[in-house]
Amino acid sequence: MNMQDKKRCAAIVLAAGKGKRMGTAVAKQYMELAGKPLIYYALKAFQDSQIMDTIVLVAGEGEVSYVQDEIVGKYDLSKVHAVVEGGAERYDSVWQGLKALREDLETAYVFIHDGARPFVDEAILTRGYETVEQFCACVAGMPSKDTVKLVDEDAFAVNTPERKYVWTVQTPQIFEKNLITEAYSRLMQEDHTQVTDDAMAVELMMKTPVKLFEGSYENIKITTPEDLKIAEAFLR
Ligand code: CTP
Ligand code: MG
Repeated sequence: MNMQDKKRCAAIVLAAGKGKRMGTAVAKQYMELAGKPLIYYALKAFQDSQIMDTIVLVAGEGEVSYVQDEIVGKYDLSKVHAVVEGGAERYDSVWQGLKALREDLETAYVFIHDGARPFVDEAILTRGYETVEQFCACVAGMPSKDTVKLVDEDAFAVNTPERKYVWTVQTPQIFEKNLITEAYSRLMQEDHTQVTDDAMAVELMMKTPVKLFEGSYENIKITTPEDLKIAEAFLR
């Protein structure tokens, strides 16, 4: 990549979830993984990335000053230019992050990332940058290793999509800033309760097709307790 022509990039790192499926008292993003809070790893990858210029961190209600001191300050994450409060659902938190970037007129691309995915790395960010430059909207994902079945309400198999057409999606999800801001501002005015990722906002609200690019099989989301064991194994 030619760094001279590189366009300005912002990351929105999401850490405002409750971590219900983890079932711990401390929200999962603050749990320790090899001696550091889980959220540290994704932030560090963006901090050290030559592609990233600025980071907005979205934290939970009432957690902003804790996160400023105990994460951003403590680990010297100097690219984090704002810590904002998220909302009840993931899309509410993304919307808060996008609003924090509104004044930043230079930023061309926004990388939206789940703080609960510690294994994002420079190779993924580079592939993402190259893909968004070409297609304006892209998401990391991997071909599904399992066969996927669509089922009915009673869990009877209805349809089995051909495996080569099935990918599971990850983050970062990367978009031209104006495109994703417009998609979300339209979405927030309509019924959007079924929206679970950022690509859906673009798929539903805009005409731009969303391209998938290769993330990695290690770029897992820490969701349930067994994921922590897998993450510890990756770190060893
Ligand atoms: N997230 C967020 N704001 C929300 C919900 C989720 O910022 N209202 C973030 C989470 O912190 C996480 C990412 O979005 O980094 C992916 O969400 P998920 O894995 O579902 O995390 P939680 O919502 O915290 O977990 P759960 O669904 O088990 O409660
Ligand atoms: Mg959730």
